[in-house]
Amino acid sequence: MIADRHGRVADSLRISLTDRCDLRCSYCMPLTGNTFAPSEEVLTDDEIVAVASFLVRRTGVRRIRLTGGEPLLRAGLVELVGRLAATGVEDLAMTTNAQLLAGRAPALREAGLTRVNISLDTLKPDRFRELARTGELQRTLDGIDAALEAELTPVKINTVLIRGVNDDEIVDLVRYCAGRKIELRFLELMAIGESAADHDARYMSTTEAIDRLSERFRLVPHDFVAGETSRRYTLSNGDGTKHTIGLISPVSDSFCSSCRRLRLGATGMLRGCLMNCDGPDLRSILRSGDPEWETRLEAKVSEAFHQKPWLSEMTTAVTMHRLGG
Ligand code: GTP
Ligand code: 5AD
Ligand code: SF4
Repeated sequence: MIADRHGRVADSLRISLTDRCDLRCSYCMPLTGNTFAPSEEVLTDDEIVAVASFLVRRTGVRRIRLTGGEPLLRAGLVELVGRLAATGVEDLAMTTNAQLLAGRAPALREAGLTRVNISLDTLKPDRFRELARTGELQRTLDGIDAALEAELTPVKINTVLIRGVNDDEIVDLVRYCAGRKIELRFLELMAIGESAADHDARYMSTTEAIDRLSERFRLVPHDFVAGETSRRYTLSNGDGTKHTIGLISPVSDSFCSSCRRLRLGATGMLRGCLMNCDGPDLRSILRSGDPEWETRLEAKVSEAFHQKPWLSEMTTAVTMHRLGG
C-alpha cells in the first residue's frame, strides 16, 4: 500500500493512453499549433500492462480509469482493455468524448471495460461545433446511447460549466440525463492550459448551478464519500420522479484532502496530482532491461505519491489533454 505524508492512500490509477484528441475543446486545446508526443515515446501496451498489473498486485490499486486526450484514438484498444481487465482490477472505467464510441461499445464491454464517463457540454449542435471546433454532437449522443445499450453502466456525463457559453443549458442537460437514467456531473472550469487566460470571466461555481437548479427542483445532498470527485444530490421533480446529479468543485471546494489518484501519462511520467508539472519517468525503467525493474518502479511510485501536493502547495499544471483530465 502506498501512502503519502498526509496519510492519503493511492488506490486509483488514471492511465492516459494518448495525448492526442479528435476534438479541440476551446478550454482545453488550441485549434492549431499543438505538439504531441512522438509515437516512440508513448508507452506500448506491454509497458502499460506491466505498470498496471504491478500496481494492482503490489500496491492496492483497485480502480483504473483510461483517459487521453481521447482514449478511443488508441490503436488496439479492445485488446489492451482485455489485458488490463485480466489484472484483476475491480473497476476498469474510461473517460471519453464518445465521438468514436458507437459501434465499439459492445466489444469494449465484452473485453472487460466496466463503465464510461462521457464529456458533453451542450445539447445544441451549433454550440458543440463552436466549443469543440470539430466533431459532431450527434456522434457523442449516439455514443451515449451505445454505452447505455452495451451496459457500460453507470454512464456518467461530465459537463464543464462555462459562463456565457452553456450556463443556459443546465436544466436541459438535467432533463436529458434524467430521461436516460444517466448521472450528470457539473464541473467547475479549472484555470489549466487554454482556460487560464479568461478563467475569471468564464468560471461559474457549482454553488451557482445549485441555486439555479433549486428554482426548478428540490435538491437533497447525499453523504460525502471520501475519495470521490463529485458530491451527489438527489433531485426531485414536481411529478415525484427522482434523479441523481453530481457536482465536481475542484475550484470552490477542493477534494484534495481525500484524493487517492495516481496518474500515468502517455509517455510514462507518473504524477501524484493533476497540478504536478512533472514526476518520475517510468518509461526509462521499463525499457532498461533491468531484472530489478519492479523494485525501481516501486520506489518511483512512492516518490510520485509523496510529491502529491496539498492545496496550498499547488502550482500550475500542464494542459489537460496531456494530463488525462
Ligand atoms: P468516477 O469514478 O466515475 O467518479 O470518475 P471521476 O470523476 O474520478 O473521473 P472523471 O474522469 O469523470 O473526472 C471528472 C472530472 O474531474 C474531470 O474533468 C477531471 O479532470 C476532474 N478530476 C479528476 N480527478 C481529479 C483530481 O485529482 N483533481 C482535480 N482537480 N480534478 C480531477
Ligand atoms: N476545467 C475543467 N474540466 C476540464 N476538462 C478539460 N479541461 C478542463 C478544465 N480546464 C474536462 C473535460 C472532460 C475531462 C477529461 O476533463 O471536459 O470531462
Ligand atoms: Fe475536449 Fe477532452 Fe479532447 Fe480536451 S481532451 S479537447 S476536453 S475532448
